[in-house]
Parts: sequence; structure tokens; C-alpha cells
Amino acid sequence: MFKGKKITAGIAGGIAAYKAAEVVSWLKQQGADISVAMTKNAAEFITPLSMKTLSGRPVAMDIMDTSSDWHVPHVDLADCDLLLLLPATANLLAKAAHGLGDDLLSATILASNAPVLCAPAMHTNMYNNPATQENIRILQQRGWSFIEPGWGRLACGALGQGRLADVEQIKERIRDSLQEGPLKGKRILLTAGPTHEYIDPVRFLGNRSSGKMGYAMAEAARAAGAEVLLISGPSSLPDPAGVRVHRVVSAQEMYDAVWKEYEDCDIVIMAAAVADYRPAHVEPNKIKKSGEQSLQLVRTRDILASLGEHKGSHFLVGFAAETNDLLAYAQDKLERKNLDMIIANDVSQAGAGFDGDTNILSVLYRQDGSLLRQDYPLQSKKEVSRQLMALIARQLENA
Ligand code: CTP
Repeated sequence: MFKGKKITAGIAGGIAAYKAAEVVSWLKQQGADISVAMTKNAAEFITPLSMKTLSGRPVAMDIMDTSSDWHVPHVDLADCDLLLLLPATANLLAKAAHGLGDDLLSATILASNAPVLCAPAMHTNMYNNPATQENIRILQQRGWSFIEPGWGRLACGALGQGRLADVEQIKERIRDSLQEGPLKGKRILLTAGPTHEYIDPVRFLGNRSSGKMGYAMAEAARAAGAEVLLISGPSSLPDPAGVRVHRVVSAQEMYDAVWKEYEDCDIVIMAAAVADYRPAHVEPNKIKKSGEQSLQLVRTRDILASLGEHKGSHFLVGFAAETNDLLAYAQDKLERKNLDMIIANDVSQAGAGFDGDTNILSVLYRQDGSLLRQDYPLQSKKEVSRQLMALIARQLENA
């Protein structure tokens, strides 16, 4: 997989720079053609000589380097199969998001058309700063893949998110980036977010779903090579890069949109929190207060159950958000709706469920007539989505 692959590792100035040494050494051992570009600050944390020894190639640091090793350093380094940024500092992300190229590494990023795999590492406050988060969002929209920083004790002693992801996780993501996506050629329909069921022109019945889990899965499906259609209920999240998005409001609109696309897709993942009930009548004018009011509700159509009745060769995945008896309810939904897989979460647990950036999941799926279970401990919705796509791809291969 690595033979003949040109990888440029860009190392920015953070304490995690020393961990890049292990990754560069591993890439060299795997047979990759690895070049290193370092910022001057990175060289304060790890020496260019170490990186030269590990990569087997001269290390570039200066955009004006006219030595014989490089023709035009940032252009030579930009021409690669993968641009790996390890670690990426807040400053590097800001420069990349805004098109600055005032040193060798940022100029290399500007000059490159290669896929970018970026592992940020910085202090929690810098990572959470709205400017950094906005820069990450901009870069994601341009197609960059991020390896999220981990939680734990940082170099300064504080606890929080910001430390470089585990080296083993970085290696796995590099392998994934160089491989053809496991879902290449598959068409995935995903739903996300809540639905709003209008009572009158200004009021609706909704729920706490933010859409974060469904949107993270749409991004992960895209990164795994699938063609993705996201049918989203009302959510404030921006469209994920490379994903076709169709926005709807009510359960009925979602039902219609899903059925319109059903025949053309291979996999359906219903992550949306679809309302089970809607008002029997929608008042055309705003209801004025007058004593007691009661609302008559009628059932919405169960989209997933209706798909399960016409399953054909589709791979159907549902969600079960519960507060008790998680696995029993999840298994009941798996069977009742004729699904291949159900992703269950106990929304009463800290770190799981609505609106947050993390989740804790248990997945039940059928394989060779048996019911199997895979647990995913507390982690970001983005990371667990990536693992779920790998599981779905394996199940499709086994089918
Ligand atoms: N779902 C659907 N159409 C609906 C309601 C739910 O497709 N009208 C899907 C959801 O997207 C999710 C799964 O079904 O994948 C959730 O199952 P459901 O039985 O509706 O969950 P709850 O409403 O939480 O179940 P219950 O009230 O029976 O506990």
C-alpha cells in the first residue's frame, strides 16, 4: 500500500512534534517515499537532523532554500499523494484557512492539490477558540480530513481536549487515506436531525436532536468513498463537504424525500429523530390564548418500518435512543422494523446523546443468523462515525 507513495509530512511547532518522529520512521519502514517540511518553531522541539535520519531525505525548512536538493522547495514538496500535517498548530490552521504562505510549510499547503490529513495539537482553549473551530470548519469544507485531538493531560498540566491523537490512530488514518475507501461505489442515504410538526404558523412540536450524529456519519461515509445523500430535518449545522443535502421540515416531508431516493441507494441509515406524532390539524392562523387548550395528535408514518417492508437488497440501519432497557428495546426495533443493524445509545448517560460532540454506542447486527453486538465507549461523534462506517463496510462484504 505504501510502496511508491509520496508523502509529505509537515511538522509545525508544538510539543507533539516529537511524536511525528515515530510516524515518519514507520512510514519509511513501510516503504513510503517520505519527505519532511518543518517550521522553524518545530525545529525547537525536534531537530531536523533527527527527521533527516528517520526519513532518509534532506529536511526542508526554508522557502528560500536554493540548495541542490530542491528545485523549488514548496512546489516539490506539494507534489505528493498525501500531505500529512502532524502536529498542526492553531497558527498553521489559521494560515491554511486564510491562504497565507509566508513560510515553507504554509506555502507547501497552498501549492498542493494532494489530499490533506491533519492532526491538530494545541492547548484546549486554543482548540476550542471559535476562531480555530471556524478555521477547521473552513478546511473541512475544502475536503481536509482531521484526526481529532484526544482528551487528557496536556503538556502544561491542564486537563482537556488538545493532545495529539494516539500514534496508532494516526497510522490507521494514514492507511485509510491511502486505501480506496471501503464504501467506494456505494450509495448511502442518511437522515439526520429532528422533525418539526407545525401546530400553527408559529408553533411546532420538535425534539432535542441537533443532527450532529447524522452529519458526522454523512462526513464519515463520504470519507469512506461513498456517494452520500443527507436528508436533514431542521438543523443549524452547515452542509458537510462533498455530500448532497436535501433539507426537509416534517416527518411527512422526510418520508416523501426518503422514498423518492430509496430505489437508487444501497444503504439507508436513519439517524433522524423523526416525530412519532403530529397535530391532527394545522391551524392556518396563530392560535390565540383562551382558557385551556388541548391538542389532538395522530401518528406519523414510520419511515424505517415502511422501508423494512420493502427491504430487497438494501442494507438498513436504524437508531434507538433510550433511557432504560437499551439493548432489549434496540433488539425489538431491529426485528420489528426488519433491519440489518441498529445503533443504540442510552441518552441518559453523560457524554451520550443529543447535542453533544461525543457519544457512547452499542450496535446490534445480524451475521450468519446470529445477533452480534459491538460496543463503542465514549468518544467523539466523528471518530465513532468512522468506526461505524468500517463496520458497515465489513458487514456488506460478508453479506
Ligand atoms: N423512525 C422513522 N420514522 C418514524 C419514527 C422513527 O423512520 N416516524 C426511525 C428513526 O429514524 C430511528 C428509529 O426509527 O432510526 C427509531 O425507532 P422508533 O421506534 O421510532 O424510536 P422511538 O420513537 O424512540 O421508539 P419508542 O417510542 O417506540 O420507544
